[in-house]
Amino acid sequence: MWLKPTLAALAAASFSSAQELMRFGCSQLTIDRIDPLVNPGSVPSPHMHQIIGGNSFNASMDPNSLDPPTASSCTSCTYSEDFSNYWTANVYFRARNGTFKMVPLFANLGLNVKGGMTVYYIRGYQPNARVTAFPPGFRMLVGDPNNRDPNRVPRQLCFRCEHNMQQVPFGGAPCTGSDTKGFPKDTCGGGWRVTVTFPSCWDGKTLDTPDHKSHVAYPATGTFESGGACPSSHPVKIPQVMYEIMYDTRAFNNKAEWPADGSSPWYWSHGDPTGYGIHGDYVFGWQGDALQRAMDTKCALDRCPALKRQTDAEAIACTKRQIANEDIGDNKWLTELPGAPPLV
Ligand SMILES: *[C@@H]1O[C@H](CO)[C@@H](O)[C@H](O)[C@H]1NC(C)=O
Ligand SMILES: *[C@@H]1O[C@H](CO)[C@@H](O)[C@H](O)[C@H]1NC(C)=O
Repeated sequence: MWLKPTLAALAAASFSSAQELMRFGCSQLTIDRIDPLVNPGSVPSPHMHQIIGGNSFNASMDPNSLDPPTASSCTSCTYSEDFSNYWTANVYFRARNGTFKMVPLFANLGLNVKGGMTVYYIRGYQPNARVTAFPPGFRMLVGDPNNRDPNRVPRQLCFRCEHNMQQVPFGGAPCTGSDTKGFPKDTCGGGWRVTVTFPSCWDGKTLDTPDHKSHVAYPATGTFESGGACPSSHPVKIPQVMYEIMYDTRAFNNKAEWPADGSSPWYWSHGDPTGYGIHGDYVFGWQGDALQRAMDTKCALDRCPALKRQTDAEAIACTKRQIANEDIGDNKWLTELPGAPPLV
């Protein structure tokens, strides 16, 4: 079974009529302070994350011994051959009295998952180009939690303030129009749509690098979407992975609860009050050649006959117990962020 095109997918198509992209929902797998990419083995890791995908997600995921499709017994993604893990930091609201509460997530328009994210794999505008799926063991990171400079936010990582839950009027392609590189400054009646887009060129051999970034690159000229060519150092076109994360900020729209000095009420879980530390993590985990099949058959939007789809209920049922046992601040005000990162 695959979904009929949804309103949101049609909206997505309108920004990308010349593009080929597939899109699917993944429910929340867990919210936990572990990070097998940047802090393997640390329980807890320095900051809180929200994670989707295969349930082999763990504090240590040694690529030499762990094969996510083998080690997982379920995935929170609707395409059931996808045991990859996708994660970002969480956002917290800080009330005038200094306490914090986690900003919850909601499913994107047209998707019936629970929280989580919408994942895109974009072929880009290059009808005859071969797009090479990631090999087992591939990992990458985009953005930098320590960044506080708007000019150093990678392209296509941004925030959109949605005026209503219908996301009308449609704000155009990601990171255009009034989208911002930092946290939106005003209240948003429809929450935020946060976009995290990864580079689309690979050196063709390295599964991961110490900074988790140097093995991938952006096109040398133009953009992936415009068919820009990959640089000679990173000649292999890979799918452009993009996350859309919908934050339900509506419970925090009462400005009487915002800090009296006009400072930001929003913090990434790593203590960043600017938003410029936006980043995302990716650990590849598709079974067999499933992702290559999806790329080769040009799966479009929510329809991918080449892939197996499980029910939304099955995706929602795939969850993982929290490992770093602590209050995550989802229904209780916390006196400090988990891990107590400095608030700068
Ligand atoms: C997660 O790691 C722990 C040890 O740190 C191990 O006991 C457990 O089996 C792992 N779980 C999975 C699903 O790999
Ligand atoms: C802090 O502020 C929040 C939001 O206004 C409120 O719900 C909470 O009860 C307050 N906590 C304390 C200890 O005053």
